[in-house]
Amino acid sequence: MIPNQWYAILESSEVKPGKPLGVTRLGENLVLWRGEDGQPACLVDRCVHRGAALSLGKVHQNDVACPFHGFRFDPAGRCTLIPANGKDVPPPRAFQVPSYPVQDAFGWIWLWWGAARQELPPIGYFDAITPEMSYATLRDLWKTHYSRAIENQLDVVHLPFVHHNTIGRGRRTLVDGPLTRWDCSLAECDLLNLWVSNRKDDGRAPQRPDQLPEPARRPSLQFRYPNVWHNWISDRVHIVAVFAPVDDENTLLYIRMYQNVVRVPLVRQLFDQAGRLANLVIERQDRRIVETQLPKRSHLRLGEKLIQGDGPIIAYRRRREELIHAGGR
Ligand code: FES
Ligand SMILES: [Fe+2]
Repeated sequence: MIPNQWYAILESSEVKPGKPLGVTRLGENLVLWRGEDGQPACLVDRCVHRGAALSLGKVHQNDVACPFHGFRFDPAGRCTLIPANGKDVPPPRAFQVPSYPVQDAFGWIWLWWGAARQELPPIGYFDAITPEMSYATLRDLWKTHYSRAIENQLDVVHLPFVHHNTIGRGRRTLVDGPLTRWDCSLAECDLLNLWVSNRKDDGRAPQRPDQLPEPARRPSLQFRYPNVWHNWISDRVHIVAVFAPVDDENTLLYIRMYQNVVRVPLVRQLFDQAGRLANLVIERQDRRIVETQLPKRSHLRLGEKLIQGDGPIIAYRRRREELIHAGGR
């Protein structure tokens, strides 16, 4: 994991008011809930008293109450009540459950995985996604590390093979570039822009990235560290994927199609659902192959024999390594 990052881990709508939710993310069992104030909260899902899962408990005001002996914990993990000691006896300070900062933004729950800071950095998304767009989300579990799932979305070489009968039709097997550019406007270079230019093999050698003209159009793909990706289909249709790390061998993929092509309520829902189904077909073509990749977790010195067209994957690995090291300092 890259430390000191906001990870998108769930859809906002999955954390419902008044009901704790138990999930595994980033290798940890977590409990999330919304208190009366509507704000999401997140603790390690293990009561400090005798280890029961807090996610089976209840929400009281802004706190979560353990189902076993009723101890209550606030969003910062402090014990606020031990019923067996009476409500007038303050719980010892050491009765503390580890907590994670979480925030709602862009319809997702983001978890800060890193050192505690007075002020946390802003959460980045994609400027092209605007609030009036509607969307439907698809969820699918991939049995692989999230880094492999991300690399697959940056892999322009696989399109005519894995997706030969869908988005990769047309036998465009030859890969020029691809061209990649970093955008460093929000955090330090955490947004990778990528232009896909694949063509049929007519005998001409592939162009190196530095032989390609500066792109005049918007990027085809964008990836923002640590785990969100954007496919810019057109100005009115976008696909965003979140790669929520479950543990070292499992990733929950969330795929959203955003659109503002169709606005009439019922037709819009039908359109969104059709997009969801199309994405399901495509991502299942990927999943089938990516789950076979070994090792499950990617890193910079894997010893894989990479080619020019794998440039975006190399860029992803390099930057990931740098961010991991920067976070460890
Ligand atoms: S185990 Fe949670 S209150 Fe006892
Ligand atoms: Fe794919």
